[in-house]
Amino acid sequence: MKVLNTIKELRSALDYSRAKGKTIGLVPTMGALHMGHSSLVELSVKQNDITVVSIFVNPTQFNDKNDLMNYPRNLEADCKLLDSLAVDIVFAPDVDEMYPEPDTRLFNFAPLDTVMEGPFRPGHFNGVAQIVSKLFYAVEPHKAYFGEKDFQQLAIIREMVKQLSLDVEIVGCPIIREMDGLALSSRNMLLTAEERQRSLLISKTLFNSLEYAKEHTLNEVKEYVENIIGNTDGFRLEYFQIVDGYTLQPLQDWDESDYIVGCIALFCGKIRLIDNIKYKEVK
Ligand code: PAJ
Repeated sequence: MKVLNTIKELRSALDYSRAKGKTIGLVPTMGALHMGHSSLVELSVKQNDITVVSIFVNPTQFNDKNDLMNYPRNLEADCKLLDSLAVDIVFAPDVDEMYPEPDTRLFNFAPLDTVMEGPFRPGHFNGVAQIVSKLFYAVEPHKAYFGEKDFQQLAIIREMVKQLSLDVEIVGCPIIREMDGLALSSRNMLLTAEERQRSLLISKTLFNSLEYAKEHTLNEVKEYVENIIGNTDGFRLEYFQIVDGYTLQPLQDWDESDYIVGCIALFCGKIRLIDNIKYKEVK
């Protein structure tokens, strides 16, 4: 496994493989890797000749300086894990390499980015689109892998690929959870033992709401989740929205779409967590 830090090195390594007709899969990450990331990497290794994993804590997508500062970093352990998964290239650039000058591009993903995370994290998806487009230009992957854990991000990346006419297939991968249900996240390690215990209620409530949805209206299910999470000490609910899985627009009725997802964001103590659940899905 090669660990490369510059776009130039990365391009020359990939040009060689491309010339031999090899397919390239890209898994963009911010490091502090866990089994959620591994699931994306394993799929890429299975589906492509060459897998590139990028590790870059992208400053332009953080709207909170403390969050950026406290974001966990562990390149050595990450490389060990990726080596064991038979990754070919780890791309771990520094900030100057990815942003030799400020990226002034402004994307417009409305209405995908005006809902849910949008109002709470201004500029976040613009930053994600800046870095992911740069990674796509540098790697030119055949396929790129993103988790459904970040449901809105996945929809926005698909939209970005359309807007920029990029030739890359976006592969969405299911949420990987701890045994007790908590969706894996690099931020989970920042939870205190007590917060970690309390965080169980998030996935539990979402799963219970699936049952509840069998006998109740969409708005009743929304209230059910909002009441439990909103009334728990130590939680601060930002939103729970039941949306169309394609347009991400809030729905009023179960009949309005064949793809319906409930997305939640909340603070558990000082740590912001997100999760989602599918009520209806087209297979
Ligand atoms: P990061 O949070 O490191 O996540 C990298 C990828 O792993 C994302 O596609 C995310 O959805 C996926 N992922 C994280 N936790 C997961 C879980 N429990 N189950 C399944 N997939 C999971 O998302 C980012 O980084 C950044 O925004 C990035 C796309 C790299 C751009 O900087």
